[in-house]
Amino acid sequence: MGVKLSQQAKKVFERLKDAKTLKFEDLKQEGHDQSMIARAAKELEEKELAEIKKEEEIAYNLTDKGHAVMREGSPEYRLVVILEDGPKQFSEINIPADVAVGKAKQEGWIEINNGEISLTSEGQMVKEDELAQQLKDRNFGSDHVERGLVERITEATRSLKLLRKGEQVKVENIEEEFNVEADAEPEDIGKKHFYRQVMSQAKNVWLEMGFQEMQGDYIVPSFTCFDSLFIAQDHPARDLHDTFFVEEPEASNLEEFGNLVDTIEAVHENGGETGSKGWKYDWSREEAARNVLRTHTTDTSVQKLIELDEEDLPSKQFIISRAFRNETVDRTHLADFDQAEGIVVGKDLNFAHLKGYLTEFFEKMGYNEFRLIPTYYPYTEMSVEIQVWDEGENEWLGMGGSGLFRPEVVEPLLGFEATVLAWGLGIGRIGMRAAELDDIRDLYSNDKEKIYGTQLWSPQR
Ligand code: PHE
Repeated sequence: MGVKLSQQAKKVFERLKDAKTLKFEDLKQEGHDQSMIARAAKELEEKELAEIKKEEEIAYNLTDKGHAVMREGSPEYRLVVILEDGPKQFSEINIPADVAVGKAKQEGWIEINNGEISLTSEGQMVKEDELAQQLKDRNFGSDHVERGLVERITEATRSLKLLRKGEQVKVENIEEEFNVEADAEPEDIGKKHFYRQVMSQAKNVWLEMGFQEMQGDYIVPSFTCFDSLFIAQDHPARDLHDTFFVEEPEASNLEEFGNLVDTIEAVHENGGETGSKGWKYDWSREEAARNVLRTHTTDTSVQKLIELDEEDLPSKQFIISRAFRNETVDRTHLADFDQAEGIVVGKDLNFAHLKGYLTEFFEKMGYNEFRLIPTYYPYTEMSVEIQVWDEGENEWLGMGGSGLFRPEVVEPLLGFEATVLAWGLGIGRIGMRAAELDDIRDLYSNDKEKIYGTQLWSPQR
């Protein structure tokens, strides 16, 4: 007669063939895993080779009081020992007398006359502490339970008993069966990094809102990164402390920007034709040509504005990409980070439109409450800082800057009348919240456990 068994059930069955009955506990002692035993036993039962028997066993456990009797002797016996050399007054007995006297009296070992205790003839025959001995022999009874020396506990023991069919089946006739439903070890399959997920989500949100993705370089001239944004050449943000200047190639050829270079020079020096008064200083072409690692993705917006023609309007553009600043790296700062930048170029646009775009973006990213706080950027008027309410942290989080580009920026770059709404957001913040990180460096680490352990990100979470 052939039977199919899983490998584990086969192992247990082989043991059971010899033993006829086997306690689960014994199998455990032999090194089998508890859940494996249970599964194997169930399988043997289903195949009618064995049956599982469950028995309640009563067992006794010594209490603290029981241990004390074993150590020091029973109170009644100790009293007998004390009285061996003659009667004693209560006050002369140096053990707790109540239990000792009560028990010894009950046994008929002592008598009390005028406050004096003495052994009876029966008491004089007691030469052995029977109670302590019983406890030592683990010869427990209900009187011990009543005296609180031991307590009764019930233990469920399960065992496996070989059935007739099991006796007939030979081990050689067993085919091994594979359990195709068993859980397998998880595979190290590819999974999108949680930060990538957040960035894809952000990108999809802009695309859904009808934005087009811009492309831009990391190495750019100061001209587009700063000068075209009406950032004066002595502005502290351009200083070595914030900006990584590029040694090779050290400078860009500004000729590719044609007349724009002269226009920007005029804007800085006297406002040019923008109606502004400019910054009133000698603008340096060499300084503008110096290459930098873009300190913000606003550089890409500038390059896009240079490219745009009036027929392209309205135009909605975004980029989610890297920017670089010479920061001391710590829990909240990195020298390179990601920004979600965007511009909307059109006629008849105002601050309410800007607010609308930002509201929609943040709502879709899972932030329902946000506010705009007045701030300053040299290239926007008005300028606001975007803050979102973080429910987890119970605080307002700064998410980046925004505003309407100033005429000093828009007029030279576009060369025609239009309004430009602009923003630059720190996408890392959103990523950190999504993955519940408190160190920004973890966003860029490839810790496998963290990657596998972080759920697929969803703004609804
Ligand atoms: N470039 C700014 C920053 O990096 C953000 C910003 C972009 C502000 C566009 C206003 C307009 O913080």
